[in-house]
Formats: sequence, C-alpha cells, structure tokens
Amino acid sequence: MEIHSILFVCLGNICRSPLAEGIAREIARKAGLSLRLDSAGTSGWHIDEPPCERSIMVGKRHKIDISNLKGRKVSVYSDLEFDLIIAMDRQNYSDLLQLGFPREKLALMGDFGLGGQEIPDPYYFRDLDGFEKVYSMLESAITELIERILDKRL
Ligand code: 4NP
Repeated sequence: MEIHSILFVCLGNICRSPLAEGIAREIARKAGLSLRLDSAGTSGWHIDEPPCERSIMVGKRHKIDISNLKGRKVSVYSDLEFDLIIAMDRQNYSDLLQLGFPREKLALMGDFGLGGQEIPDPYYFRDLDGFEKVYSMLESAITELIERILDKRL
C-alpha cells in the first residue's frame, strides 16, 4: 500500500512524538515527498500543551521548530485513517493494540534501522544529552522510513 499519512505516537505527546513529527516534516520536505504528518499520545495528560521545553530546544538546535504543536490524545475513531502509525516504544505499541488499532497499521520506530530499539522516554532525563540522543535516533529512523517510502519498500 502506498503511504500518504503517518501518525507518530508516544505516551504524553510532548517529548518524543512532536519531535518525530517535526523531523519527519523536514526530511519529507527536503525529499520533495508530500505526506500528511501528525502526532498524538496514548495518554490524555498533556492535551493542548506545547511540546516540552527541552524537545523544543533540541529541535531548535537542529533548525526544527515544533513550538506551535499541541498535545492531543490518540483516538481510534479519528486516527484510523492514517496509513501508518508509529509507536516510540513497546508500551505505546501495545497500548495502541489495546485501543483497537489493527496490527497491520502499526510499526515501532526502532524497526527502521535501529535494530528494534525503543526510543527512550526522556521525560525524567536531567539534562539535554538524553534529548540529543532521542533526536539522533529519530533522525536516523525517519531518514530510513522516508527512503523506504520513496523506494516503495513499505
Ligand atoms: P513523551 O514523554 O511520551 O515522549 O511525550 C512523556 C511526557 C509526559 C509524561 C511521560 C512521558 N508524563 O508522565 O506526564
């Protein structure tokens, strides 16, 4: 199936998935690929909040502005229309299955060239290093993802 839309999902939708959305926007834009991109959380803890300070900062360092994004909760009613839904860790993945998303639409970010690693939850990290690590994992996986879409290997 051709991929036209991708939803990135983490727990809070304030640290990892908004950064994934911002990075994907930039990489898709550079590749000349038109995709509908969005992000959401499995929890509703941060609805309408901007991304966490440190994700905004790390994005900015890499010329990616995510400051205008707003947290929202994933919904099996409105988000089923995405062609691909990418979970940041295994808990997010199993929560999505539990919510009723079909396995065929789900993927783990770490399966795009990261050997199945989980994108670590950086919420309780004490400094920016963890966020830089998350950034580089996301950038590497999303580069692989976009290449696979362009080569129709997905
Ligand atoms: P995220 O990080 O899932 O990458 O957005 C978290 C954000 C908030 C919380 C946990 C993880 N929290 O417990 O509120």
